[in-house]
Amino acid sequence: LLPRDVSIVEMAPRDGLQNEKDLIPTAKKITLIDMISECGFERIEATSFVSSKWVPQLADAAEVMAGIKRRPGVRYAVLTPNMKGFEAAMAAGADEVAIFASASESFSQQNINCSIAESIERFKSVAEASRARGVPMRGYVSCVVECPYEGAVSPDAAARVVESLHALGCYEISLGDTIGRGRPEEVDQMLVTVLSYAPATMLAGHFHDTDGWAIDNIDVSLKHGLRVFDASVGGLGGCPYAPGAKGNVDSLEVAQFLSRKGYRTGLSPEKLEEAARFAQSLRSAG
Ligand code: HMG
Ligand code: MG
Repeated sequence: LLPRDVSIVEMAPRDGLQNEKDLIPTAKKITLIDMISECGFERIEATSFVSSKWVPQLADAAEVMAGIKRRPGVRYAVLTPNMKGFEAAMAAGADEVAIFASASESFSQQNINCSIAESIERFKSVAEASRARGVPMRGYVSCVVECPYEGAVSPDAAARVVESLHALGCYEISLGDTIGRGRPEEVDQMLVTVLSYAPATMLAGHFHDTDGWAIDNIDVSLKHGLRVFDASVGGLGGCPYAPGAKGNVDSLEVAQFLSRKGYRTGLSPEKLEEAARFAQSLRSAG
C-alpha cells in the first residue's frame, strides 16, 4: 500500500448496500469488495452482522466474508451490535469490528431498539471480547449534529457518547452525520466540544452528503486535525432507519479534494472510478 497522510475508510459494501431495497446477489457484493480492495484502501467495511429482520440486505454477511479475496495489508471490518454479531463476525474471520451508538435517543431506539445507555451497557461484552481476542474495535456515533426524528442534536450529547465509546476501548470513533444535513458551522461546534473528550487522532468523520456539505465538513474536520474519513465509492449509502438520509460522500470526490489540498490518500482514482461504476450498477431502479 502507498503512503498516505489521510485515510479514507471505504463504506460502500456496508453503508452503501444496506439501504438498497432489492436484494443484491452475494456474488456481486463479493465482486464489489474485490474491486474496492484494488483501490488502495487500508480498511474496508465489508458488511454487518446484524439481525436479518432489521437489515435483510446484509443477511448474507458470512457468505460475503467467505467469498472475498483478501488483499494483504487491507483490514476487512464489520458492524457488530451485540455478542451474537461479534461471534458470527469472528467465525467469518473479520479483521475488525465496530459497535454503533447514537447521540439521539430516538435514533437509538429506531436503529438498535434500545436507549443510548442500554446500548453502551450491551457493548461492554463486545468490547471485552474484542480486547480478549485482540481484534481492533471501532465505534460510531450517529446523529452527531442532527437526528431524523428529533432535529438538532447538541454537541454535548455527541460528546457524552464519544466519551463512553472511548471508555469502552474503541481505538477510533467515527462521528456520523447520519442524515447529511450538518452545516460546517455545526460540525465545527460539535468538534470543539468532542475534542475535549477524545483527541483528533482517535476521531473520524462520517459524512452523508444529502445537502452537499460533506466536503466542507471534511475541510472543517481537517482544520481540527482529523485525518480519517469514511466515504463510499459511487456515493452509495444511507440507513434504513434514517429516513431522508442520502449516500456517504463519494470516495473519489474526497480523494480528489484531499489531493488538491496536498494530502496523499494512497488511492488510485482510476480504480475508484471503476469501482464506483460497478457500485452504481447495483442500485435498485427508482
Ligand atoms: P432486537 O430485536 O431488539 O434484538 O434487535 P433481539 O436480541 O431481541 O433479537 C431479535 C432477533 O434478531 C432474534 O432472532 C435474534 O436471534 C436476532 P429470532 O429469535 O427472533 O429469530 N439477532 C441477530 N441475528 C443476527 N445477528 C445479530 C443478531 N442480534 C439479534 N447480531 C438489534 C436488536 C441490535 C439486533 C437490531 O436492532 C439490529 O440488528 N439493528 C441493526 C440496524 C442496522 O444495522 N442499522 C444500520 C447500521 S447503523 C448506520 O448505518 C449508521 C452508521 O453508518 C453511522 C451514521 O451514518 O450515523 C454506522
Ligand atoms: Mg452511515
